[in-house]
Amino acid sequence: MNILITGVTSGLGKEIFNELKKDKNNFFFLLNRKSKIRSKNVKTYNVDLSNHKHLKGKIKKIVNQSKKRIDIIICNAAQGVFGNITEININDFRDDMEVNFYSHLLIIKSFLPYMKKNKYGHIVNIASGAGIVGLRNSASYSVSKSCMQILIESIHKELTRYNIYSKNIFPGPTKTNFTKKNKYIGHKVNMTGENASKIAKIVIKNLYKKKINIFCQKKTFGAFLIKTFPNLK
Ligand SMILES: NC(=O)c1ccc[n+]([C@@H]2O[C@H](COP(=O)([O-])OP(=O)(O)OC[C@H]3O[C@@H](n4cnc5c(N)ncnc54)[C@H](OP(=O)(O)O)[C@@H]3O)[C@@H](O)[C@H]2O)c1
Repeated sequence: MNILITGVTSGLGKEIFNELKKDKNNFFFLLNRKSKIRSKNVKTYNVDLSNHKHLKGKIKKIVNQSKKRIDIIICNAAQGVFGNITEININDFRDDMEVNFYSHLLIIKSFLPYMKKNKYGHIVNIASGAGIVGLRNSASYSVSKSCMQILIESIHKELTRYNIYSKNIFPGPTKTNFTKKNKYIGHKVNMTGENASKIAKIVIKNLYKKKINIFCQKKTFGAFLIKTFPNLK
């Protein structure tokens, strides 16, 4: 399989790659910073996902180097600006949207014509409970994750007839560097949760499923149920 992944330098992306590399796959990574991963079947492309002009150039290279065949896209990279709505400015929202939503929209739209031609594809969004239920001091991050989630639900319904399956996989709370790296305006959040390598194994188990929404932990599934059936509360 030819697999494109965004954000493999740490956390879930890194662990997902550690699982996927056990099989004979070719990898195309879009990364913010230089990666230490060196392997014949790994091609890395350095890009800040908020720079879409730069990203378009990297996508062109991947199209050529993959011989127009990407079988799986894993939309994993994300950032967050956290703080009270009166303190976060509109550019913070824009930054989260550019990295978390628009960059992945651009990637998906760029490879879809080839997936359709090949009559095969899996588009995987590493989704978040914060995109199901808006969280305190997380408006910007929640909105951006919600956009991705709904995009995936929509395109799943459009693309299954081409044998292309789009899905949101919700890892649930997972111990990564996410909260260390992001921007906090007055409100530091500490991310606790499951071990990232354990969650990555569950992600891989579900990679080829034909369902739209897949939950690695009960906690996030609970949030989804309450949102879908509010009278259950
Ligand atoms: N951890 C959790 O509890 C949890 C829960 C639900 C969903 N998720 C989702 O899981 C995914 C992975 O997050 P994680 O927890 O593993 O956090 P992480 O370790 O911080 O990983 C995020 C990845 O995104 C990359 N990235 C961020 N901004 C970028 C940019 N502008 N351009 C290119 N790459 C960029 C980071 O690269 P650099 O480090 O090089 O910037 C890193 O590789 C995210 O989509 C997140 O929303 C996480």
